[in-house]
Amino acid sequence: MCGIIGYVGYRRASPVLLDGLRRLEYRGYDSAGLAVLEDQDLTLYRRVGRVAELAGAVPEKQEGHVGVGHTRWATHGGVTKENAHPHLDGTGRIAVVHNGIIENASELRGRLERDGVVFHSETDTEVLPHLIRAFYKGDPVAAVRQALLRVNGTYGIAVVFVDHPDMIVAARNGSPMVIGLGDDETLIASDTQALVRYTRRVIYLGDGEIARIDADGVQTVLLSGASTAKEVEQIDHEWGVSEKGDFDHFMQKEIHEQPESIRRCTRGRVVLEQGNAKLGGLDLSPRDLLGISAVEMLACGTSYHAALVGCMAVERLARVPAVAHIASEYRHRNPLLQRDAIFFAVSQSGETADTLGAVREVQLKGGEVLGIVNVVGSSIARACGRGTYVHSGPELAVASTKAFTSQVTALLTFSLLLARTRQISRNVGKDMAEDLLGVPEMVSRYLANQGPIVEAAHAIKDARYALFMGRGFSWPVAMEGALKLKEVAYVPCEAYPAGEMKHGPIAMLEQDTPVVVVMPNDHVREKTLSNVQEVKARGARVIMIHSEGDTEAAEQSDLSIAVPRVHDLISPLVTVIPLQLLAYHVGVLRGCDIDKPRNLAKSVTVE
Ligand code: G6P
Repeated sequence: MCGIIGYVGYRRASPVLLDGLRRLEYRGYDSAGLAVLEDQDLTLYRRVGRVAELAGAVPEKQEGHVGVGHTRWATHGGVTKENAHPHLDGTGRIAVVHNGIIENASELRGRLERDGVVFHSETDTEVLPHLIRAFYKGDPVAAVRQALLRVNGTYGIAVVFVDHPDMIVAARNGSPMVIGLGDDETLIASDTQALVRYTRRVIYLGDGEIARIDADGVQTVLLSGASTAKEVEQIDHEWGVSEKGDFDHFMQKEIHEQPESIRRCTRGRVVLEQGNAKLGGLDLSPRDLLGISAVEMLACGTSYHAALVGCMAVERLARVPAVAHIASEYRHRNPLLQRDAIFFAVSQSGETADTLGAVREVQLKGGEVLGIVNVVGSSIARACGRGTYVHSGPELAVASTKAFTSQVTALLTFSLLLARTRQISRNVGKDMAEDLLGVPEMVSRYLANQGPIVEAAHAIKDARYALFMGRGFSWPVAMEGALKLKEVAYVPCEAYPAGEMKHGPIAMLEQDTPVVVVMPNDHVREKTLSNVQEVKARGARVIMIHSEGDTEAAEQSDLSIAVPRVHDLISPLVTVIPLQLLAYHVGVLRGCDIDKPRNLAKSVTVE
């Protein structure tokens, strides 16, 4: 959840590190720090709060060319300067930044304290520099390796040594680390966003690998000591540096990028002439597809909502039983696997610990898991080995928007592929393909004419409670709308299947309670309309997302937001957009920190 950056090269390190930390700040933003090597000395800067605070503390004249930086999301120990990274050994000559959790930290700490080591923080991380010091006999890689052999848990670390002022040692086990190879400079980071300004040539460090990094490149060894050969990869154009441009926030920008991100997700995959789809990364032949007895999906947060939509699409279009699991629950319930079921792990970051844990549980039980992932080279993508990248490009706002629509698009594309091996004809497939390829245009059309979103935001901004409801495909959309509102605007709210609303939440309704209804023109529209009458009769203020031309829906609402009329299966891709915008505007009206909501992190690498 934390962000790590390291630099060794000809530039002054501190501006590179601070720029990298700004780009990684979405990963954690309660404190930040950096350590720079200069003149046989190590200078440490740490601040509670944002990277901007830290930047103010680093002098312009800081000349060192090697250093490491960190942006923190607290796990062990409160948000204090002492707990901020980097952490030092007792001599102040070794500095470590760490992402992950050292599970045997208290045992190691006890042992080190008995040997006379004095600790200065409450973090699990601080055992690392002391342990590395204990094994240091002049060889930095050997010392890190010996220390890590004593450590249980997850880590991505970067270490600098005053005695070796031209290099960084990095290691990974379960927390992402990517090395960027430049000309006479090398960077290491927990995310490519921090590197792409300098280079697009990267090496992904694997679990159990240690890297020795200097300005000329990198050498890697395994924890066992054996050296490894690494492949240099090129970062795609879509993963370029993301700037806000004319937008006020990344969330707003990412909402508006959806026509393009959805288009990228279908490009070369939805084949109109054949009424079919191609998903080469899945590596499933028509015969394999025909053999699938069930589809199961593993995900958390927004990705879980995308998985719910995906399951409904698989069942509806391909008539294959499908179920979505919340990964944190699934992995701990000793699940039963059906023979010939296929699993998908759905994740934007590809790093969510619970989803990764669920993947491992399925694999351990002999199941096959494919990734539906955004971040290339991420842990879940690698653990699955096969899958589909959704091609959203960098999503920097903590609240996920464009990744959701890309995940849904990828899962709809898979549904089409699966359905064509079973019961749908080329012509029916063609209609579906045409609808899918038309989505970017529909989303653009809506974004150009958003309806009374800002008025709806005013109706919600001071509410003590808000209810979202929908049926069928619109129920997960309602859940996603409520999640967005909680995440970016902290308004107490919940989402319910419209028909279930009368079994509890209706008791919450008072005069003018906002009720957001997602009701496109589908086969459950009439039923939802009855539920709208029920909430109206209790004085609720109805904000309705409905299909264009549905005058009855418009008449029944206090605020009516029309979206383009599309096929039922595709409706989540258009109905979710006004809900994203609604949460965004409520957050703005309430003065919230839109891109970095309190307590949240973009990539949740702890259980
Ligand atoms: C965090 C993020 C959410 C995200 C969830 C799952 O809670 O704040 O936006 O939906 O993790 O993340 P993933 O990267 O696996 O999709």
